[in-house]
Amino acid sequence: MTTTQDQSSTTQHKGGSRAGTTVRQPDPPAAGELRQTPREIEGPYFRLGAPNRSNLLEPGDKPEIVLTGHVLNEHGKPIPGAVVNLWSSDAAGNYDMLGYRYHGYVVTDATGSYEFTSIIPGCYQPRDAKHFHVKVQGVSSPITTQLYVEGEPGNEDDDFYSPDLLVKCTLDAKGTKHGTFDFVIKQVRERENVTPESLAARV
Ligand SMILES: [Fe+2]
Repeated sequence: MTTTQDQSSTTQHKGGSRAGTTVRQPDPPAAGELRQTPREIEGPYFRLGAPNRSNLLEPGDKPEIVLTGHVLNEHGKPIPGAVVNLWSSDAAGNYDMLGYRYHGYVVTDATGSYEFTSIIPGCYQPRDAKHFHVKVQGVSSPITTQLYVEGEPGNEDDDFYSPDLLVKCTLDAKGTKHGTFDFVIKQVRERENVTPESLAARV
């Protein structure tokens, strides 16, 4: 017999056969809440210490994508001061494991907005889709996920691709894609916050 809980963990994710299956997903939304952003694997290339910058272009690069959006809580309220940390491979599919090329973080403004300008990353085995890795953190644990770019080849062939993580894009006259993606994360509330005091109060 299949329980409701089993269904919620297996039926929300379409796309690649491994999309959302190897990391714990957020709880389904309660009535009236937004669905939290699906999680995805971090991959082997995240490094601590990336600089605070929204422009990830290297000398000689053309801006291929401007990625904007908000960080929201499950009620749709913007979260100012959230950290959005984004990293990707270069155009050839290589990650910088010595420095921070194509890696940076920004802090959302008073309206919960973030913005990055970068290249569209290359692809590398065993992945078929060009993708950005992202960590988003408010007053919460960081959530780790990946974003895919509308109109790029290979999305549907990628094991981890999820249409829920597809950035819808428009193209401007210069050939730069403009994509928008809102992250929905759950922040820790005071009653959920574990401190020595809160633990003592529960005893
Ligand atoms: Fe990757």
